[in-house]
Amino acid sequence: MQMQKLAGNDVLLDVRDLETHFYGEESVTRALGGISFQVRSGETLGVVGESGCGKSVTALSILRLLPKLTARTVGGEIRFHGRDLLKLSPREMRQIRGNRIAMIFQEPMTSLNPVYTVGHQIAEAVQIHTKASRSDAMAKAREMLRLVRIADPERRVNNYPHEMSGGMRQRAMIAMALACSPELLIADEPTTALDVTIQAQILRLIVDLKEHTGTAVMFITHDLGVVAETCQRVIVMYAGRIAEQASVTDLFARPAHPYTQGLMRSVPDRRHGRQRRLPEIPGIVPSLREPIVGCSFAPRCPFAIGICREKTPTLRDIGPGHAAACFRAEEVMGG
Ligand SMILES: Nc1ncnc2c1ncn2[C@@H]1O[C@H](COP(=O)(O)OP(=O)(O)O)[C@@H](O)[C@H]1O
Ligand SMILES: [Mg+2]
Repeated sequence: MQMQKLAGNDVLLDVRDLETHFYGEESVTRALGGISFQVRSGETLGVVGESGCGKSVTALSILRLLPKLTARTVGGEIRFHGRDLLKLSPREMRQIRGNRIAMIFQEPMTSLNPVYTVGHQIAEAVQIHTKASRSDAMAKAREMLRLVRIADPERRVNNYPHEMSGGMRQRAMIAMALACSPELLIADEPTTALDVTIQAQILRLIVDLKEHTGTAVMFITHDLGVVAETCQRVIVMYAGRIAEQASVTDLFARPAHPYTQGLMRSVPDRRHGRQRRLPEIPGIVPSLREPIVGCSFAPRCPFAIGICREKTPTLRDIGPGHAAACFRAEEVMGG
């Protein structure tokens, strides 16, 4: 396989003011309210936030895989190597998908076809994107299964998805996603459906493969603990916007958004070998169907003051590589 090591500072994906809406019978859901972030070559960027905050919609918007009839990206740019993906033809977009940007989902059964062997499906993915012969593509499939540490790849290549365990299927999905050496892998909660031990193994695998291939990873998770173990930088999302953006080190040392602090308090304490899940953040997430006045987190925020209920805070720099969408970030950071 052609391995590429990249410097890690050049911008691979540059998302600007991305806005995606869902259209219901009587209402519009503003799932993404204008988000901007970058993924640099070779880095692992975490995307974290509670269920419903827009993580998957962000991934689907980038790949232009939103449901056609009900969803639309209504604003912004998604620059990949400087080219706006939103302006590409469907055909050009298919060239990017799978080949240069690959994605793995939470539930591999939804993306693996039950009627074909795993080897057939990986070989197919290779053949769609390269001019490899059938036998070369099958050899590649075996090589990929070995790379994701599936024991006995010669035999497993002939397995159907249902003949594999959940963890093995997720490894097979990763093998398929990486078969074409994408520059960016978007992993949407790839370990959430797996039990804790298998989850740890898959996370380690993704980190190791990333080191090996130089692929940049956008790692979507609701679990800050997973971010700490896998990512270099992180964006924290809340109600379709970015609440905070920082290096993982800074985020854990100096969380600047009250929502991030709340998430950290609800991270399970794994140090004592037992899962002690601390209280969730009180209050409910705002409806994305109504226009939000002020800061969307204000109703749940222990720091909220008058201005927070009147004006919408924008993401602003509060330190090198560290930004927060909070009027009181300095005080929040201070303790
Ligand atoms: N298929 C859909 N139809 C209508 N609304 C949707 C659909 N998918 C997502 N949404 C809306 O977009 C918001 C973000 O969803 P999603 O990105 O899936 O959240 P998560 O952060 O859990 O991945 C949801 O709160 C919901 O309001
Ligand atoms: Mg999701």
